[in-house]
Amino acid sequence: MKIGIVGITGSVGKELLELIKERKFIFSEIRLFASNKSVGKKIKFKSKIYKIIKLNKKNLSGLDLVFFAAGSSVSKEFAPIAAKNGSYVIDNSSAFRLKKNIPLIVPEINSNEIKSSNSKIIANPNCTTIISLMGIKPMSNVKKIKRVVATSFQSVSGAGNNGMDELLRNTKRFFNNKKSQNKVFDKNITFNVIPKIGSFQPNGYTDEEMKFNNESRKILNDKTILLTATTVRVPVLRSHSISLNIEFNGNIEINRIKKEIGKFPGIDLVDDPKKNKFPTPIDSSNKDNCIIGRIRKDYSKNNCVSVWIVGDQIRKGAALNAIQIAELLV
Ligand SMILES: NC(=O)c1ccc[n+]([C@@H]2O[C@H](COP(=O)([O-])OP(=O)(O)OC[C@H]3O[C@@H](n4cnc5c(N)ncnc54)[C@H](OP(=O)(O)O)[C@@H]3O)[C@@H](O)[C@H]2O)c1
Repeated sequence: MKIGIVGITGSVGKELLELIKERKFIFSEIRLFASNKSVGKKIKFKSKIYKIIKLNKKNLSGLDLVFFAAGSSVSKEFAPIAAKNGSYVIDNSSAFRLKKNIPLIVPEINSNEIKSSNSKIIANPNCTTIISLMGIKPMSNVKKIKRVVATSFQSVSGAGNNGMDELLRNTKRFFNNKKSQNKVFDKNITFNVIPKIGSFQPNGYTDEEMKFNNESRKILNDKTILLTATTVRVPVLRSHSISLNIEFNGNIEINRIKKEIGKFPGIDLVDDPKKNKFPTPIDSSNKDNCIIGRIRKDYSKNNCVSVWIVGDQIRKGAALNAIQIAELLV
């Protein structure tokens, strides 16, 4: 396997490299790409020094697999070139997720879609969508889900390196009695929450919220499920949390849900109110598994359950999911 990583200096790119080492992903050659400002910089990996190279048609040729983690405009321009060269592409951006013949994969949920597709490009879903579905899918195995109402609490690293820098920089400014400088986020993220991720759409939702709806339906292969979300940026460094209220087509037992979650790969159950046990984003940071808790019947409506799920969005929400897809391809 000759592999490439586009966006190697970013949050997802760095994690991809870490996971390649951790999961002993076998390769004979690796090429690392970033923007022009990073070309020539050196990266130490497995005791070898690699130079970051320029992203162009020539440097992309001859690779078997390329991970793209540099945003949608870069993916739109270069992923088709890599695919035309014969490389498999696993794309972390939203560029191809809703395209008809491009599989959108969460390996624990719809790995079969890869086998039945001949697309060279495979899309990695949105981070909040992946983490939410890691809880929603096992619950849908108990009984068909009618509707999901989601509220996300998304960490600043969801906006990449610059998002983390902005939280840390503005926190320091706060303690030095200086006004916040907001470049990545619309408002000050320090000691605040921002109920807007992405840009507003004509229907009043943001594109992040619509990704949750559109991508979930595609991954679950369910055109009838109803989903609505409010996505919120919170001053957490890493790991997203999502509160889900789920309406089933009929009555369900909480114990059945817990049993199904216990059987599902990639998710841990931490839910014991008597012992004060519930998951927080720090608990899932730098971990592969998502964690679910606070599972309870909604007393205000029949057939409804509320849950709380956390997951490392740089790992399972991006790099780990991409590596799992690569492992499927291998
Ligand atoms: N962060 C997350 O939690 C997360 C989760 C799921 C999906 N994603 C998606 O993954 C992608 C990467 O996100 P990120 O958070 O890792 O972003 P990031 O930390 O801002 O890193 C962006 C990377 O892209 C590179 N880049 C920018 N312009 C480029 C160009 N013209 N040519 C080549 N490389 C270029 C940057 O290189 P320089 O350092 O040289 O500028 C950097 O390596 C995005 O599509 C994002 O939506 C992110």
